[in-house]
Amino acid sequence: DELPPLDLCLNLYDFEVVARKVLKGTAWAYYSSGADDEVTMRENNNAFGRIWFRPRILRDVSNINYSTSLLGCKSTLPIYITATALGKLGHPDGEKNLTIAAGREGIIQMIPTLASCSFEEIVDARVHDQQPQFFQLYVNSNRAITEKLIRRAEERGVKGLFVTVDAPQLGRREKDMRIKFEDVGSRVQNDGKDDVDRSQGAARAISSFIDPSLNWDDLNWLRSVTRMPIVLKGVQTWEDAVKAAELGLSGVVLSNHGGRQLDFARSGIEVLGEVVEALKQRGLFPNPMFQIFVDGGVRRASDVLKAVAMGATACGIGRPFLYAYSAYGPEGVQRAIQLLKAEMEMNMRLIGAPTLKDLEPNMVDVRALSTH
Ligand code: FNR
Repeated sequence: DELPPLDLCLNLYDFEVVARKVLKGTAWAYYSSGADDEVTMRENNNAFGRIWFRPRILRDVSNINYSTSLLGCKSTLPIYITATALGKLGHPDGEKNLTIAAGREGIIQMIPTLASCSFEEIVDARVHDQQPQFFQLYVNSNRAITEKLIRRAEERGVKGLFVTVDAPQLGRREKDMRIKFEDVGSRVQNDGKDDVDRSQGAARAISSFIDPSLNWDDLNWLRSVTRMPIVLKGVQTWEDAVKAAELGLSGVVLSNHGGRQLDFARSGIEVLGEVVEALKQRGLFPNPMFQIFVDGGVRRASDVLKAVAMGATACGIGRPFLYAYSAYGPEGVQRAIQLLKAEMEMNMRLIGAPTLKDLEPNMVDVRALSTH
């Protein structure tokens, strides 16, 4: 099958259609799967469809500016590339495709603990010295390994540590489990012993080192080994978001891991409403030192603008970028980012918000968001 020309991809969904045709079975199964019945995975996207705009008119929208800053790092968009494991399943250059595209387009990439490329390869692929990157951390039962990862990240100039807290056990992704996993292509963190169980799909094969005993007390230890800002990735209630803010962490990602962990977890965008409300009540919002991120099902600039209007700093996008580089390399990811920039410009103009600061909560109608 011939690859459609890149300029025929007109939105982020188009990359999925192409990737489904060109990806190997194992890669498609691992990237596209969600947990159990995939209700949460679908809901992530559906939830955005229950938010409507209340655009304002007659505001000067001749100049649109959608640049922002995440944990003190400049970004051309309120969007970052979130961490997704096993980048080489889709393309021989793996995560480096994302590094290059992120650098060229001025957005931030979160490097996964379970990248297929080595951490050094990904850092060395930066297109310029000042290109900011974040690091996603799975905490290993062997804390010495984790400490080494954190120190190495800090030494190589990583600007933020995103600790994944929604995966004490990997979710059951049945599409993935039906395909025997052969080529990990990743430095599995098992102390060099090759005791990886390859009979249960890619996810299970690589996740055995993650420490299920991780708890709030461990955050003090994490803070003692790094000066990087720490963000909890995978917060799903206002209670935990408030706890993170009160502990003085730098933020939370409201996320359900792209619907790959607990099925029937709510979407990040739905959780955002209650989180902002609870933080406000306690005088913890707005707070530039505590940023709120949302990921899961974000496919259009309008999704991002809804989240920003509701109080998020930025949104993470996962699968579409994997699909884009699997088919087209870094240029595919650049195209996806450029499409988002164009959508951002048009939507902000039509909403009547020339900058992200002009997006107010009353520009979205969220009455239909929580209907269950
Ligand atoms: C992920 N995600 C993820 N998260 C994490 O903290 N560590 C990881 O190793 C991975 N790996 C991973 C692999 C794949 C193939 C996917 C699709 C996702 C979750 C990811 O960071 C993010 O939460 C979701 O991908 C966001 O949803 P969308 O944009 O994919 O819908």
